[in-house]
Amino acid sequence: MKSESPGTSTRREFMRNAAAGAASVAAFSILHSAQAQDASKVLRVGLIGCGGRGTGAAREALLADPNVQLVAMADTFADQIDGALGRLRGDDKIAARVVVDDTHKFAGFDGYKNVIESCDVIVHGTPPGPRPLHVRAAVDAGKHMFIEKPVAVDAPGVRSMMESCRIAREKNLVLVSGLCYRYQFAKRETIKRIQDGAIGDIVAMQTTYNTGGLWHKGHDPKWSEMEYQIRNWLYFDWISGDHINEQHIHSLDKIMWVMKDVPPAKCTASGGRAQRTDPKYGNIYDHFNCVFEWANDVRCFSSCRQWESTSTDVSDWIFGTNGKANIQEHYIRTNDGKEWRYEGAGEDNMYQNEHNAFFAAIRKGESVVNEYMCTSTLLAILGRTSAYTGKTLTWDQMLNSQLDLTPKVMEWGDNPMNPLPVPGQTPFV
Ligand SMILES: NC(=O)c1ccc[n+]([C@@H]2O[C@H](COP(=O)([O-])OP(=O)(O)OC[C@H]3O[C@@H](n4cnc5c(N)ncnc54)[C@H](O)[C@@H]3O)[C@@H](O)[C@H]2O)c1
Repeated sequence: MKSESPGTSTRREFMRNAAAGAASVAAFSILHSAQAQDASKVLRVGLIGCGGRGTGAAREALLADPNVQLVAMADTFADQIDGALGRLRGDDKIAARVVVDDTHKFAGFDGYKNVIESCDVIVHGTPPGPRPLHVRAAVDAGKHMFIEKPVAVDAPGVRSMMESCRIAREKNLVLVSGLCYRYQFAKRETIKRIQDGAIGDIVAMQTTYNTGGLWHKGHDPKWSEMEYQIRNWLYFDWISGDHINEQHIHSLDKIMWVMKDVPPAKCTASGGRAQRTDPKYGNIYDHFNCVFEWANDVRCFSSCRQWESTSTDVSDWIFGTNGKANIQEHYIRTNDGKEWRYEGAGEDNMYQNEHNAFFAAIRKGESVVNEYMCTSTLLAILGRTSAYTGKTLTWDQMLNSQLDLTPKVMEWGDNPMNPLPVPGQTPFV
């Protein structure tokens, strides 16, 4: 079950709390600067969720700091742990610091607890469903975390994550998010220019993640329904939150970043499944279109789909009174015809950049907590819920939603699936 703070919240309180959080960073950085870590101290890293991204993130953690060792791993499946360990041990750049012995490989639903106990720093690469529970346990135990995106699949999960961020600030911990574009220098420069007024006042935005289908691992008759769903987690609401949450969040996060993380007032969305109608695709949609509206009438038109054999596009356009910007291409054109393109020199691997910043903050004893991971996740959930219900929904309604998608029982066996949402019939809860 997710743990969260009681009571309801409004958009205004949400913004006030965000500002208070930022102010407290400075205060805690001073108060706790004595906790800075000696660079020669070995930091013990544990990986929870040993799939593609978790393995990549563990590698980046080891490359970010020479005195880091990978000492423990957890996954629901032993074969996933062994596969990831084999890949990491086979990488000459890091192999010597991959020191996970057999007693530190934890399979099953509770392995995360053992990893948290064994390590100073956690790399979290599971799908988003279990993330709020694991993050709270790690923060309660005082551990720094790299946390993949998105951070939850429902509003109770987002509220739990917001509370975990608050606790992390109090404890002077570092929580860095896998919303990696925020750590790409080219995007930082482009968005800073937009925020500094390069294209005038923002009038409208368009963000698109139109792509093909993703993987499906089939069904082994030996698997229980729960195992089948976790192996194919992309297609089940309780563990992925649908593809608008799992994939399009990168686009929505760029929009939130441009808007300085001030959430929209409301959203009207539509969606459905046009291609992925086979039951093997669980209970998620394959396309969404959303209109997010801010209080000052700025609108963002958002589209995402996972369709085979169709045109693809991943782009974000920002239109202002004095020009337009294409964030993905790091390009700005003003109404006088002048063009700007990012021309920074040197490496700009956003995945490595975020781990370099993560370990630098730990070593310095700086509290860095990327609270925006909660807001951007809630934006995706708002778009999804508006499409599922067919209703225009406000930010406050979404923030206070009581729909908890966590399975009643987290164990191997049956796991009944929620029905496919039907707009106009699926209620807002
Ligand atoms: N930042 C990025 O650009 C980026 C890129 C890819 C994936 N991701 C994110 O990373 C996460 C993982 O994606 P992936 O592509 O690595 O998927 P994956 O299927 O390759 O790996 C997920 C792993 O988590 C394990 N897992 C599931 N539930 C678990 C639980 N309760 N406890 C422990 N382990 C559990 C699975 O068995 C699997 O091994 C997702 O949230 C995804 O959105 C981010």
